[in-house]
Amino acid sequence: MLMDDVVSIGLLGAGTVGSGVIKLLQENAPQITQRLGKKVVIKKVLERHPEKPCLLGISPDMVTDRFEDILDDPDIQLVVEVLGGIEPTRQYLLEALRRGKHVVTANKDVVAAYGKELFEAAEAGKAEFYFEASVGGGIPVIRILKESLAANKIQEVIGIVNGTTNYILTRMSEEGADFATVLRAAQSAGYAEADPTSDIEGLDAARKISILASIAFNTRVTPDNVFIEGISRITPEDINYAREFGYVVKLLAIARDLNDEIEVRVHPAFLPHSHPLASVRGVFNAIYIKGNAVGETMFYGQGAGQMPTASAVVGDVMEVIRNMKSDSARRFACTCFLDKKIRPKGEIRTKYYVRLIVKDKPGVMASIAGVFGNHQVSLASVIQKRTLEIDGQMMMAEIVVITHEVKEQDIQDALAVIRGLSIVHSVENIIRVEGGGKG
Ligand code: HSE
Repeated sequence: MLMDDVVSIGLLGAGTVGSGVIKLLQENAPQITQRLGKKVVIKKVLERHPEKPCLLGISPDMVTDRFEDILDDPDIQLVVEVLGGIEPTRQYLLEALRRGKHVVTANKDVVAAYGKELFEAAEAGKAEFYFEASVGGGIPVIRILKESLAANKIQEVIGIVNGTTNYILTRMSEEGADFATVLRAAQSAGYAEADPTSDIEGLDAARKISILASIAFNTRVTPDNVFIEGISRITPEDINYAREFGYVVKLLAIARDLNDEIEVRVHPAFLPHSHPLASVRGVFNAIYIKGNAVGETMFYGQGAGQMPTASAVVGDVMEVIRNMKSDSARRFACTCFLDKKIRPKGEIRTKYYVRLIVKDKPGVMASIAGVFGNHQVSLASVIQKRTLEIDGQMMMAEIVVITHEVKEQDIQDALAVIRGLSIVHSVENIIRVEGGGKG
């Protein structure tokens, strides 16, 4: 093969995903070469543990622990980053792009928070910047938004983009188990990290929806713009009531274009059984996208894992090489050319499920309904579900309320008053209700 028929890449990281990239480039080499008309060769690997890539047939003299060895190698035209973390990775990506090396990354943390400066560096270096694997693992949702659906005005993107939380909620729902028990089981099975905070508190999903919203609505959204609530307060009672009302509980990442502004939020939600996302079980991800021309679409697959993520990374590598070959690099520069306002949390409008424990005596329902009414919270249904004894004394009643669509600030104000009523023992949970359905 002539030198011109080879594209040399520098691989940053040979952990789980990096090893997947090495394996995929080896296993599917014949068709990748044929499809590209070029051979993709890993020339150097940045890795502190050389035994990892060497086990996959990478020769030890190709492994380095100095990023400069890759940056300063004139043969390396493309840098593939699967190291993860923010620093020094962000710095590596900026330097590579400014030097004119194309970059393919799987790093949602860096892309979500520093997309703007990375695109500026790409512009300065006239380099390509691709990041398909940063959202939805193997699901090619970024290319779909940027290319296939480019003719649409995107109205809504709703994702189940975190496998850990979807796995936990699926098991809670199917087995009636509580959150802590399922989390422990998920950790032992390797489905949840030893420190699961960023997954269960919604931060991982917030990074992913920031990236999707930025592309869908052509405006910069960073994770600190996202209203975030995790799943740790969801109980088997909430899941049972959801089922009774015709819903499932999912951690949703929601981005909507409201014309004058956009809303971007991550929180658990009741979703009607009939919604396409309701049937997404276990660690699987799915992204539902509504466009004004295409209507409803949904993309489903494995949101993490070695080979699904490698599939997205190598797909990007091939796309960059095709662009290099046809001299059409930088077809996709930064698409955030608008500056849309983000709707403040208090202004968000949706339906709510509220579960309360109150004293079981006459007039209690009326008092609670009165407080909601005073705060413009219109109720779709109020049901007394069961009586229970709390602290071995008083008879208490559990009340479940579903509202019509109301403003977040109004319901929070109403609940602040309700919490202070002597007839109220506790507001057990408040969960948003999405996707149409009853109420
Ligand atoms: N921790 C993520 C998840 C996968 O549980 O979906 C990596 O983005």
